[in-house]
Amino acid sequence: MLLIATLLVATAAGAGSPTAERQQQLANLLLQDCGSCHGLRMTGGLGPALTRAALAGKPRDSLIATVTHGRPGTAMPGWKALLDEQDIAWLVDRLLEGYPQP
Ligand code: HEC
Repeated sequence: MLLIATLLVATAAGAGSPTAERQQQLANLLLQDCGSCHGLRMTGGLGPALTRAALAGKPRDSLIATVTHGRPGTAMPGWKALLDEQDIAWLVDRLLEGYPQP
């Protein structure tokens, strides 16, 4: 059991992604914090929809920049005080893949 956990963490770290534990925290953040504005199913609320369809064609880099710095003059806050680059890239990749899974 311990070996499996260690392997999972090692695999995640090797791929340049957050650890399994960190991914769990990020998934919670996505639902609770991002979801409070973007909707629990990312279909929109105060903020626009962040579903796979809604984000189709938007450059990954610009989405990462939006999450990092926020959008001045709008309700979208910047997250760089709480999240590092790896965390933000992981969140954006989850959204581009479609989150949460249907
Ligand atoms: C307080 C409300 C609020 C919270 C919390 C919030 N957002 Fe936003 N977000 C917005 C608003 C409003 C916009 C639209 C800004 C605009 O008009 O350009 C936005 C825009 C975005 C965009 C750009 C979408 C596009 O179509 O270009 C992304 C990506 C995004 N948010 C991701 C996130 C993520 C990830 C989180 C959590 C880490 C988050 N947001 C938390 C309000 C919020």
